[in-house]
Amino acid sequence: MAIPALHHFLDLADLSKEQFWGLLHLAKRLKDQRQEQGVNEPILAGKSLALLFQKPSLRTRVSFEMGMQHLGGYAFYLSPAEVGLGSRESAADVARVLSGYADGIMARVFGHQDVVDLANWGSVPVINGLSDFSHPCQALTDIFTAWEALGDLTDRTIVYVGDGANNVATSLMMAAGKVDMNVRIVSPVGYMPDPAIVESSGAEVSVTDDLDGVQGADLLYTDVWTSMGQEAERDQRLAAFPAYQVNETLVKRTGNDRVLVMHCLPAHRGEEITDSVADGPASLLFPQAHNRLHAQKAVLAHLLGGVALG
Ligand code: CP
Ligand code: NVA
Repeated sequence: MAIPALHHFLDLADLSKEQFWGLLHLAKRLKDQRQEQGVNEPILAGKSLALLFQKPSLRTRVSFEMGMQHLGGYAFYLSPAEVGLGSRESAADVARVLSGYADGIMARVFGHQDVVDLANWGSVPVINGLSDFSHPCQALTDIFTAWEALGDLTDRTIVYVGDGANNVATSLMMAAGKVDMNVRIVSPVGYMPDPAIVESSGAEVSVTDDLDGVQGADLLYTDVWTSMGQEAERDQRLAAFPAYQVNETLVKRTGNDRVLVMHCLPAHRGEEITDSVADGPASLLFPQAHNRLHAQKAVLAHLLGGVALG
């Protein structure tokens, strides 16, 4: 039976396991095609994507921009100051205006409701390029990268160390649930994930503040302690997290001499991760960043180009 098409890419909770795997396989096809033939087919010729940002970005902006170009389409960047989403103009109006100009909208926002409103009011596909709640494009890439590195992911264990309540941790749990991985969240008290999110992720998740939780990890994942928009809490967070730094001692504590380390970047080196781990032999940080391009292309080829997921 055909896998149902997606209309938007707002949150991994909206995807079935089959749809998620469909995107992973499509990302692999597009990556292989580009690497073997030097080009992708121009399946998005004549199509355009609006890139709407309320926060800074390197990977998300560039991977979507280059992804559109590789597929024969065009992307245009709209800065926070230019559009003033929610201040100069409502998300509902922005969505209806952009739907007349572009074939899709990728948005990076503070409040998650803004991407939901863009999708509800616009008439083109909307992609969540990070909200305060979730970062589904990152998690799709992370699982793609884990799949490349480990092969079969069933019952593999990914341990996320740090702010278990942030957008990256939330999407990682949801993504792990799609591919039957086990997740451990190792976070200080006060920064653990919402139990409702753990429950809804569909993954086997355990949550602890005990650093022994890293034992047996196949993958060790971390992210910044202070996310974009949380700058006022920075001092308080810097006081809460130091024991949760991913350093060589913590990597050894996994007991797995083949453990691989992941980080969505940008990193605050010397805080959540040390240089020696980020640049060491276990690091997957840059393959992960580069895979954003291939994962983004899969989302674009499906949503804007109608490429089927199976
Ligand atoms: N990981 C990630 O989303 O990076 P940017 O914030 O640079 O887009
Ligand atoms: N949790 C981080 C991820 C950045 C890609 C943030 O929201 O700032």
